[in-house]
Amino acid sequence: MSLLNTPFDPAREAALVTGAGNGIGRAIAQALVGEGVRTVFADVNRDTVAAAARASARPDLAVTWVGNLADPAAREALLAEAQSSVGRVTHFVHSASPPRREADHAMAVTTETWAQMHAVNLDAGFHLSRELARKLIADKAPGSFLLLTSLHAGTPRNLPHYSTSKAGLSMLVKELARTLGRFNIRVNALVPGAIAAGGFVADPKLAKHIPLGRLGQAEDLAPLALAVLSNRISAYVTGAAIVIDGGLSLTNWFDPPDMGDL
Ligand SMILES: NC(=O)c1ccc[n+]([C@@H]2O[C@H](COP(=O)([O-])OP(=O)(O)OC[C@H]3O[C@@H](n4cnc5c(N)ncnc54)[C@H](O)[C@@H]3O)[C@@H](O)[C@H]2O)c1
Repeated sequence: MSLLNTPFDPAREAALVTGAGNGIGRAIAQALVGEGVRTVFADVNRDTVAAAARASARPDLAVTWVGNLADPAAREALLAEAQSSVGRVTHFVHSASPPRREADHAMAVTTETWAQMHAVNLDAGFHLSRELARKLIADKAPGSFLLLTSLHAGTPRNLPHYSTSKAGLSMLVKELARTLGRFNIRVNALVPGAIAAGGFVADPKLAKHIPLGRLGQAEDLAPLALAVLSNRISAYVTGAAIVIDGGLSLTNWFDPPDMGDL
């Protein structure tokens, strides 16, 4: 039997994806329903999340939820909706993130923008993970969580509210992986490079710094996201940070070698 042809068990598994209205979250949510997994598509943008569900391979398996994850009451509402619409959530993907605006540098970012970024990226990531884990632990069911961090968890981005929230999130992955491992709940980070997916307005000139020679697409991330989420493929993977960046993080102040006519 092929190892890879049944990564999920749709009879027992269901998913919740935040930020499913656009970019990377949308691609992962659509890929999950493509595998037959009932999936909650959660986003603050009603139009885009409805369109994402409609455009998926199996709209009948997609449930949309609209709300602002910066608001603790909305997070509770999302958990309740997920439980009533798809049942126990075994697979959680946290991709929602407020817009990254270049103007919000250290000397300009407002208190509100700072707080919103941390509330969505870090606070919602923590709260939703913990509450979903509580249910899995009570039911003695395995689970798999994937939190979208960033190369800028470790290097500055000129957006301190963003980079600090992602740094916090990458430590949260390690904390949760260690705490929840004994309950067979795996927690990993997906670390995208420069993905021209909507949230990041990429300068095409960046491609010359990427060993694979191009910016990434959301669809470049979905297959590996599914592999890490799958308890069949990645049963022994937790606390890992899976980098998908075409080699961007290998860039430093040296140019690649001059190899003549090779
Ligand atoms: N695109 C990249 O190059 C890149 C690089 C590194 C990390 N990431 C991370 O990957 C994730 C997805 O990135 P993307 O480029 O696809 O982002 P995106 O901006 O295209 O999508 C983010 C989604 O989150 C939703 N959202 C924003 N605020 C929300 C809120 N308060 N409540 C609920 N939903 C909300 C948006 O409506 C949007 O649909 C983000 O966490 C981002 O930080 C992306």
